Amino acid sequence: MKAMYDKINARLQALVQNCQETSLQEAMLYSVNAGGKRLRAMLLLGACEAVKGSYDEVDLDFACALELIHNYSLIHDDLPCMDNDDLRRGKPTSHKVFGEAMAILAGDALLNRAFETMANLCDSPQNIKAMRVIISASGDNGMIAGQVQDILNENKKIDSSTLSNIYSKKTGKLFVAAFMAGALLGGADEKYVAAIEQVGMKLGLAFQILDDILEVESTAEILGKSTDSDSRNQKNTYVSVHGLEAAKVDYQQISAEALTALNKLPQKTDSLCDIVLSVIKRKM
Ligand code: IPE
Ligand code: IPE
Ligand code: MG
Ligand code: MG
Repeated sequence: MKAMYDKINARLQALVQNCQETSLQEAMLYSVNAGGKRLRAMLLLGACEAVKGSYDEVDLDFACALELIHNYSLIHDDLPCMDNDDLRRGKPTSHKVFGEAMAILAGDALLNRAFETMANLCDSPQNIKAMRVIISASGDNGMIAGQVQDILNENKKIDSSTLSNIYSKKTGKLFVAAFMAGALLGGADEKYVAAIEQVGMKLGLAFQILDDILEVESTAEILGKSTDSDSRNQKNTYVSVHGLEAAKVDYQQISAEALTALNKLPQKTDSLCDIVLSVIKRKM
């Protein structure tokens, strides 16, 4: 996993350095190099490896494109008009360092860099399919829709199915895209892609429930982000809707379902299983 993590970081750096606008590149690199876990990129490469036995430079670029989209989403998510957070990955958020205008533009630029990176590789049907999966997962029926619903439901009482729907989009979609795009790049058939989609759906939901539990139980030092963001913004979270104890029970249950779905895949590798376990067992 360490080798994969290092390759992702090196390639992310190189992709962002394509930006010729010095001050913009500085803001883009600040966020990209702030030390994310790279979970979505690693899951994409792990899924690809599970199908074709290895991953190459093209797959790495798709993994980095997904990671760039995730990084842009975090910059925008932290803005004063969104969650208004000052700390991300243990550092001041982009708008705190560069101002709001530059933070918005750095986010925009990371998104466009992601699209350009994938567009440069669209010379085979499987690459085009992988690009479609990533773009649609991050778009107006995917992650952005989830962010919209997250904001529209601030300070409102919602039921558990509405919350699950928000989570499946704002967080789940990029996890699902990681698994599906990785499998597609590996050359998987439709049946395999449908099966691995289930792993992504379960893992994405488990990931966000754990995020809510950690926000209540952990510290800003460990998490690298503030622990009062959800309460301050009167967000609906798994903990506020179900209670902490039920959140923990459901977290165990849904993580177990993710592992069951993973174990049912006709092809998998120890590497993919290790990455999935690292998501489930994460402390930050
Ligand atoms: C944080 O995601 C945003 C959520 C969807 C909760 P990660 O915890 O994967 O963030 P980084 O990339 O490791 O900082
Ligand atoms: C972030 O969700 C999801 C996206 C950026 C798409 P949250 O707002 O719940 O995550 P944190 O707590 O800021 O990381
Ligand atoms: Mg948010
Ligand atoms: Mg937030």
